[in-house]
Amino acid sequence: MPPTPPPIPKAELHLHIEGTLEPELAFALAERNGVELPYATQDELRAAYSFTDLQDFLDLYYALMAVLRTEDDFADLTHAYLARARAQGVRHAEIFFDPQAHTARGVAIGTVIGGLSRALDAAERTYGITTRLIMCFLRDESAESALETFESARPYLDRLTAVGLDSAEVGNPPSKFREVYARAREAGLKCVAHAGEEGPPAYVWEALDILGVDRVDHGVRSLEDEALVARLVADQVPLTVCPLSNVRLRVVDRLEDHPLRAMLDAGLLVTVNSDDPAYFGGYAGDNFDAVRDALRLDDATLRTLARNSFRASFLDEGTRAAYL
Ligand code: HPA
Ligand code: ZN
Repeated sequence: MPPTPPPIPKAELHLHIEGTLEPELAFALAERNGVELPYATQDELRAAYSFTDLQDFLDLYYALMAVLRTEDDFADLTHAYLARARAQGVRHAEIFFDPQAHTARGVAIGTVIGGLSRALDAAERTYGITTRLIMCFLRDESAESALETFESARPYLDRLTAVGLDSAEVGNPPSKFREVYARAREAGLKCVAHAGEEGPPAYVWEALDILGVDRVDHGVRSLEDEALVARLVADQVPLTVCPLSNVRLRVVDRLEDHPLRAMLDAGLLVTVNSDDPAYFGGYAGDNFDAVRDALRLDDATLRTLARNSFRASFLDEGTRAAYL
């Protein structure tokens, strides 16, 4: 048998660090922190990973976070993700975190950012993997809560590259967060937002025109609106697509039906990412492998997807150019 080639170098641009909590670590942290989980075994927990939609997933995602309490917990979680990502060819990772999901449980934002930062700095030294942090607002919480969260993060802004918007999309349009995005931009941060995952193309328009996003997370429903596709193509706005997530959350029926190839053919700047890999069946390389097999993508297309991931990143020009 010929040796398997090393994984293609890539950047991961859509990854919720809380979504990397594997059952094994969840149980270890539960024990360390004396937290009772509503599942007796890891297998019992895994059996719950069959989701009907985004909200069904979010209910478990937020519940399991109860095990994350200390700076060490956040550092261990992040370290475990970076080790897995590195093994799958990830050279650069732009990582979402959800501060409100932790502060609501009495965990200080400094504890969260402190733990994440410690692991990111260590990974850069040991794996040579570069990283950025993106602080997300929970869109099913109020605009005031997002503003309070942003203000509470001011002492840590030098650790943050961008703000993002996630959680339950339908009924929580981007326009609700106009003010906090204006504030973030004024502070020199980049802006991204989940839009067009379950929500309509109108939410992608709002993310572009009202929030002024530099990237759209998911955006798969943009294909329903020709004028929107033309706009995304003309401006080469990156879309961080998450194929295995789209199947698990029933945004598409089967991976074979995923519009990734149609999106590339339309001229969209598409990237492939893992979203919440512990819940959706795979990390960045697994997502590349899955779309390769299901959509019969050739090597040139896979290289385009990998190149797109660096083009769409927030790396500085010089570093990005070295990957292209
Ligand atoms: N969509 C919206 N919010 C999220 C997701 C997602 O896929 N994962 C974690 N928070
Ligand atoms: Zn996401």
